[in-house]
Amino acid sequence: MVAAASSSSAASVPRTGQEIRKAFLRFYEERGHKVITSASLIPEDPTVLLTIAGMLPFKPIFLGQQERPCPRVTSSQNCIRTNDIENVGRTTRHHTFFEMLGNFSFGDYFKQQAIEWAWQLITEVYGINSKNLVVSVFREDEEAEEIWRDVVGMNPKRIIRMDEADNFWTSGSTGPCGPCSEIYYDFKPELGNEEIELKDNNRFLEFYNLVFIQHNRNLEGTLTPLADRNIDTGMGLERMAQILQNVPNNYETDLIFPLIKAGASIAGVDYYQLDNSAKTSLKVIGDHSRAITQLVCDGVTASNFGRGYVLRRLLRRVVRHGRLLGIYKPFLVTMGQASIALLQDVHPSILKRKNAILAELEREEARFLETLERGEKLLAEMLNSKPAHISGDQAFELYDTYGFPLELTQEIAEERGLSVDLSGFAVAMEQQRQRAKAAATNIDLTLQDAIDQLVEHQDATAFEGYQLLEQSSCVQAMAVNGRPAVSASAGDQVQIILDTTPFYGEGGGQVGDRGLLSGADVSVSIKYVSRVRDVFVHAGLIRWGELAVGDVVRAQVDQVCRRRIQANHTATHLLQAALKQVVDPDISQAGSLVDFDRLRFDFHAPKAVTVKQLERIETLINDWIAEAHSLIVEEMAIDQAKAAGAIAMFGDKYDDVVRVVDVPGVSMELCSGTHVVNTAEISLFKIVAESSVAAGIRRIEAVAGSSVLAYFNERDLVVKQLGECLKTQPNEIVGRVLNMRDELRNTSKALVTARAELAVAKSAALALKATVVGVFQVLVERLDGVDGAGLQGAAQNLVAQLGEGAAVVLGGLPDSKNQGKVILVAAFGRQVVAAQQQAGEFIGSIAKLCDGGGGGHPHLAQAGGRDGMALDAALDTARQELNSKLILKSH
Ligand code: ALA
Repeated sequence: MVAAASSSSAASVPRTGQEIRKAFLRFYEERGHKVITSASLIPEDPTVLLTIAGMLPFKPIFLGQQERPCPRVTSSQNCIRTNDIENVGRTTRHHTFFEMLGNFSFGDYFKQQAIEWAWQLITEVYGINSKNLVVSVFREDEEAEEIWRDVVGMNPKRIIRMDEADNFWTSGSTGPCGPCSEIYYDFKPELGNEEIELKDNNRFLEFYNLVFIQHNRNLEGTLTPLADRNIDTGMGLERMAQILQNVPNNYETDLIFPLIKAGASIAGVDYYQLDNSAKTSLKVIGDHSRAITQLVCDGVTASNFGRGYVLRRLLRRVVRHGRLLGIYKPFLVTMGQASIALLQDVHPSILKRKNAILAELEREEARFLETLERGEKLLAEMLNSKPAHISGDQAFELYDTYGFPLELTQEIAEERGLSVDLSGFAVAMEQQRQRAKAAATNIDLTLQDAIDQLVEHQDATAFEGYQLLEQSSCVQAMAVNGRPAVSASAGDQVQIILDTTPFYGEGGGQVGDRGLLSGADVSVSIKYVSRVRDVFVHAGLIRWGELAVGDVVRAQVDQVCRRRIQANHTATHLLQAALKQVVDPDISQAGSLVDFDRLRFDFHAPKAVTVKQLERIETLINDWIAEAHSLIVEEMAIDQAKAAGAIAMFGDKYDDVVRVVDVPGVSMELCSGTHVVNTAEISLFKIVAESSVAAGIRRIEAVAGSSVLAYFNERDLVVKQLGECLKTQPNEIVGRVLNMRDELRNTSKALVTARAELAVAKSAALALKATVVGVFQVLVERLDGVDGAGLQGAAQNLVAQLGEGAAVVLGGLPDSKNQGKVILVAAFGRQVVAAQQQAGEFIGSIAKLCDGGGGGHPHLAQAGGRDGMALDAALDTARQELNSKLILKSH
């Protein structure tokens, strides 16, 4: 497959993971790159949970926030991604932990150099044959396409243009980004260059991504150009190993397979003899064992938050898959030892952490085994109460809390003749996914393991933010760059706990406040505030000066942001009230998000809200806004609140005393969020989308207050641009587009007629070529560039010319450049049909020769095929068959 890997020069081609890594780093070192050792899986960047790409440690350099250590560097970075965790072991190439080889330029070399070196590295150093390579480029990046075509000399058919979703790279939703060009390995080059579909995973494997970092993307998605043009690349070490080691998947490379073997030996099985699902379990064990070992090595401990939760989840998956293979005794220490043995080659420092790693794995595994046992008991209790079935929520609790795979619950339930509510399970799962997604965007600023430790010893923070937006507060504790600390200085990412705060901590769907902490000697910008139990964690950056535990600071909430959040929050209450009025009084909330610039409300409903209903909801809410209702916010006993008709979130637990937010006559909800004083402050409300989130759950997204202006400005811009493109006034755009549509339809119709006429004209001359077969006439001809209707018209015309004894077959490629589409038509005169020849049957059998099929009436029929190369031979066969069949009928 890889020419050099199997040829006599095999010795010089890197094969092992170690050799591939070394060759990469050496190649770029020889080209002036400084080799940088892998950074921790815990990134310094507080906006990211885990290191997910080689570029992450260099993010501040790309953004111009940090000096570059030198203009070009190269690294093999440990990475973890969990977004595709369900695919691990099931596909050939998904991982949680993996190594990303990368070369980086900080305002130094750019696109052409990066492409040329990448090509040289993979073809000369890794010895990959160019016939096995395909590249993709961003649709608008003509420069990259030209370089691949004109400088590298790639066949243009093997340069595939892709759109933004595939070929524009950003690490998450914000940060340095740019168009990219990906290099793919083609396992089946013999399939040729036509219709290359890079998403065909059986044929293509993406292994090297070159990103041309030129922009910064902000939270709103706006791109601003960076001062420098940079290069960020990533090559999946495991993928390159799969290619060069000629194994069927990443897991069977020397980077992971030893762990699969270790797992197999504990289970007492032979990997190669197993069925697919057992193989998958071993692959998961292999993949995740490396991940959990490296996570603990880098300082993560298992918990229910942030990266601690990632570790816990991965570790539990290893145990669960172990059980699927029949491993019931603890085995993670053995897997940890095997992982350390494997990883120490790259990072000898892992040996120093060996005891700590093994101890954490052992402890957490024991904890989980206890949980599993409790889960088994719980399931037994559920079954003993003789239910009609296991509900979706019950199955989900077993899955989520006790790590029970759904199949296991199903199996045990089935033994008792019970079913499990699978759709209920799917709903619970989707809700959890949404919660996890919301957490993932905010989690990193706040819920770090260090925070868990910090918070453990803290009293509840006094929240004053309902009345105050500014006050004096005293620093109780802090973490710096993810670790507990007593002081911090300029440039530090900090998490701060105050005794009392005006900042709202994320909760009840409302995001945390932004703002500033300042003192005579220090200024800290606060980017996000979350709550861990009742302790508020203020995450931010020391802009200048020093801050120490015990300092008193002025805490100021960003008032503009807060006002926008409040408008959105009260608008969310109005939305719920309007939904009840317009759609169904029993509608209940399934979740919500109240942000600075938008709001989202999820609710249980069997079908979509209609456009008319949405219009009524919008009008109703804007009326309530205009009516200027003053809100009444009160604390009262829960029973009193419920008696007054306050809406509570179904299933939520409330304290005895609750906070009631009342928009008199409109809405009354239990809520601890912050709100406007009067609905007039919201000023305007606009729904931007209505969609489905999961079975039985709908979502409305909307904007309120000043965000409405931003929304309309964006729309307005589209209208203006359309007006310019169409050279027409905005109010005439619709008319113009409708005219264009009609014109297009008429033109297409005229084209079809013209093609058909052309075909008839072309075919007139063909009549002369008919051969006489007894009393019949046979005419079989090729006619390209004509569509089906045209061919049918031509064939019928020929029969009309030749008479009822004529059998006419025409075949051709409607588009002579596309060999994949063949059309065949047969028209038989009455005498031919009377002689038991059917056009439909006949043409169907001929189409088979061109990898197709079809049929139709006895007199006229059409069929299609996918193999244009076989057309001439098929027409020859048609001619011979007609001749021999009709000659018999003539006697
Ligand atoms: N940062 C790029 C990636 O992760 C190279 O694909």
